[in-house]
Amino acid sequence: MLKVGIVGFGFMGRMHFRHWKMVPDTKIVAVCDANPNIKEDTKKAVGNIQGAEGDIDLDSVQLFRDLEEMLAKAKPDAISLTLPTYLHAECSEKALAQGVHVLCEKPMALTVADCDRMIQAARKSGKVLQIGHCVRFWPEYAKAKEIVDSGKYGRVVAGMFQRLGAAPAWSVDNWFLDEKRSGGVALDLHIHDTDYVQYLFGMPRGVCSHGAKTSGGQLIHMVTTYDYGEDRLIIAEGGWGMTTGFGFEMSFNLVLEKATIVYDLTRKPMFRVCPTTGEAFTPEVVSGDGYLREIEHFAKTVRGQPVEDVLTLEQSRNSVRIVEAEKKSINRREKIMIR
Ligand SMILES: NC(=O)c1ccc[n+]([C@@H]2O[C@H](COP(=O)([O-])OP(=O)(O)OC[C@H]3O[C@@H](n4cnc5c(N)ncnc54)[C@H](O)[C@@H]3O)[C@@H](O)[C@H]2O)c1
Repeated sequence: MLKVGIVGFGFMGRMHFRHWKMVPDTKIVAVCDANPNIKEDTKKAVGNIQGAEGDIDLDSVQLFRDLEEMLAKAKPDAISLTLPTYLHAECSEKALAQGVHVLCEKPMALTVADCDRMIQAARKSGKVLQIGHCVRFWPEYAKAKEIVDSGKYGRVVAGMFQRLGAAPAWSVDNWFLDEKRSGGVALDLHIHDTDYVQYLFGMPRGVCSHGAKTSGGQLIHMVTTYDYGEDRLIIAEGGWGMTTGFGFEMSFNLVLEKATIVYDLTRKPMFRVCPTTGEAFTPEVVSGDGYLREIEHFAKTVRGQPVEDVLTLEQSRNSVRIVEAEKKSINRREKIMIR
């Protein structure tokens, strides 16, 4: 039985809680959150995904307000680290130093230097550190990667990725809107697509980004072209300047030599492969969502069971590195080379 603790019990902590409950042979033994009213507050809705409220029973878990106390008293084998981003590096290091495996939410950390510290801490402890890049595990995104890699429809000529919503307004003290604590829209939201672009195509040679800022100077919408050479166009757009009435949308279009693969959360069917010959079809995908699949992957890795080669710590770090270059490109209004 794998004993699990959840550290940070806001939107994502509760998401991890629900998904850990679906993983056999695991038990959530503790929840840690600085909020003294966490038991009452957990009954209220939080976050931007419907159905993420109300059904959590904290009676059978030990509650803590401090990570170190939780590690010492509840002695979990592994934790889901679902704290605000500015705490990822420091708290991952603390848990790893205590011999605890860590599944840390994306983005890995605020800076590449912090990511490097986390990688060193994982190496030193010999424990598993995995970053929650759920899009790599999202069934349709995973299937699209599988199709691209198979080479069946030829080379990807162009790829367009989009992720749009309202700025997150659910955090206790609005830490999301503080660039110094969340990294802003680029590091918090857009990194999902940056990371998936890296997953599909590797490290870009450079990035050229453009952004829109509020009158207060806060970046709220951005578009990046990733340089993979002149014969391929790869673009990702991310924005949290939409009104709340807009909801949330994520989509991609992949143009291959012999097929187009499209995914759009708001379309029916959401996912289609349209080959140059024959009918368009919706490929079968695994059940569950990206959160469940990333947690299962983590649990298997901790248990030493075989897993697919989905992500490395260096890649998670490199996604932070690419996003840093994207921000620099917006601020300097020039292309930034990465390698
Ligand atoms: N993978 C995804 O799709 C996805 C979606 C949203 C957020 N995230 C990431 O998940 C992380 C958490 O985001 P969230 O939306 O859950 O935020 P949130 O504000 O809803 O939750 C954070 C929780 O941490 C608690 N907390 C803050 N400081 C603490 C401390 N020192 N000790 C203990 N508890 C503390 C807060 O009380 C709060 O309950 C962020 O890194 C964010 O980028 C990922």
